[in-house]
Amino acid sequence: MKILGISEGFHDAGATLIKDGKILSASHSERISRIKHDKWLHYTQIDYADKIAFFEKDWLKRTRQWYAGQQRKKSRINYDVSFYHHESHAASGFYTSKFDSCNILVIDSIGEWDTVSIWKAWVKRGKPRMAKIKSFKYPYSIGLFYSAITQYIGLNPQEDEYITMGMAAYGEPIHYEIMRDHLEYHNNHKGIRYLPSCFRNEDIAASAQSVVEDKILELVNEYCLHENLIISGGVALNCVANTKVAELGKNIWIMPNPGDCGSSLGAAALAYGKKLNWIDPYLGTEIKRDPKIKEIVNHLINHSYCGVANGRAEFGPRALGNRSLLADPRRDVRDTVNEIKRRQKFRPFAPSILEEFADKYFEGPMNEYMQFVSKAKHDYSSVTHVDGTARVQVVKQNCKSILRPILEEWHEQTGCPMLLNTSLNIKGQPMVDTWQHALDFEKKYKVKVF
Ligand SMILES: [Fe+2]
Repeated sequence: MKILGISEGFHDAGATLIKDGKILSASHSERISRIKHDKWLHYTQIDYADKIAFFEKDWLKRTRQWYAGQQRKKSRINYDVSFYHHESHAASGFYTSKFDSCNILVIDSIGEWDTVSIWKAWVKRGKPRMAKIKSFKYPYSIGLFYSAITQYIGLNPQEDEYITMGMAAYGEPIHYEIMRDHLEYHNNHKGIRYLPSCFRNEDIAASAQSVVEDKILELVNEYCLHENLIISGGVALNCVANTKVAELGKNIWIMPNPGDCGSSLGAAALAYGKKLNWIDPYLGTEIKRDPKIKEIVNHLINHSYCGVANGRAEFGPRALGNRSLLADPRRDVRDTVNEIKRRQKFRPFAPSILEEFADKYFEGPMNEYMQFVSKAKHDYSSVTHVDGTARVQVVKQNCKSILRPILEEWHEQTGCPMLLNTSLNIKGQPMVDTWQHALDFEKKYKVKVF
């Protein structure tokens, strides 16, 4: 039976098609429509399916929107079954995990009413079960608080939160108490209305980040006693906070697309009723080209950077080698790549490293999906943040991306086992999806794409 899970109507619409436990495709609307954070599905994502599952309860969401004074357009798609917003977030984690039992911590901005929920999950007679053990409801919201801070410091809410996280390393958490007060006692849906003008943005970001980290650790320590922990919801993209949780010694699984787009997968999984066969996040549009590895590496050696668009697009916000802009981390390429991507100068880049060398060059939690930060034990400044950390992608031997053979050849020729890896897009625009997008990118931004 084919099941289509869909999420749309707020931001970052997505669709996941599964058949008998296999994920056939999972895609992000913005990549196809080319509208950043597109909240509606593109017609090409609506495939034939025996059942269509929606990621939230429309009627319940309307009660909260009525309370909050918001208006909303209903999904235009007729679905067969729907699940609660946080239930879909939780399932996107549990149904793709290897855990037989665990806790699930869901933290996002807002769905229906829940903004934080904690679950226990287990498998009974082959069937996954989830039970909510605690929830916090709107207007209290860690996600809305972080978005309000993002907006206050002049960035785009629901989009630039990761920039706020990066900026935090440049500040000191000297306004911690004020930020904590905002989180606990204010309705941050209305934004942060006033902070003294003498406050530096970097210190505001650092203080907010510190408050969020502490709050997450408190939630984990109080409610998530199982050694296995799944983190889901948009806040699970905060890799600095994830790292603090990992340091508690938990086994952590975060599906690479833990936000609302990934909830399309959660809804499909719930409708299926059994765990899915998770292999990797290369689930989107396919480009079949197989470029020559030696040619790519020679280009990197001679020109410092290039794009790669090959295989299926990653499901999730991180480019993991199939829609990536790669660069030589041994050179001072940070400003050049930031300029190409029209990004702020302080923005750090992530390294992708052969798994055999990961422990030699980095210390701390790291995995194949760039979900944690670890301490750099090398001098490659282009891939090291100001605080000495990096959001590492460990490229495993069985990684299906072309990135693996590129790194092997790169290491062979240069002795360096890592490359700078950033998404193949310009700031504020969706990632390259098709080969035509790649050609357009090459022409417009003068970056050779393989
Ligand atoms: Fe959500």
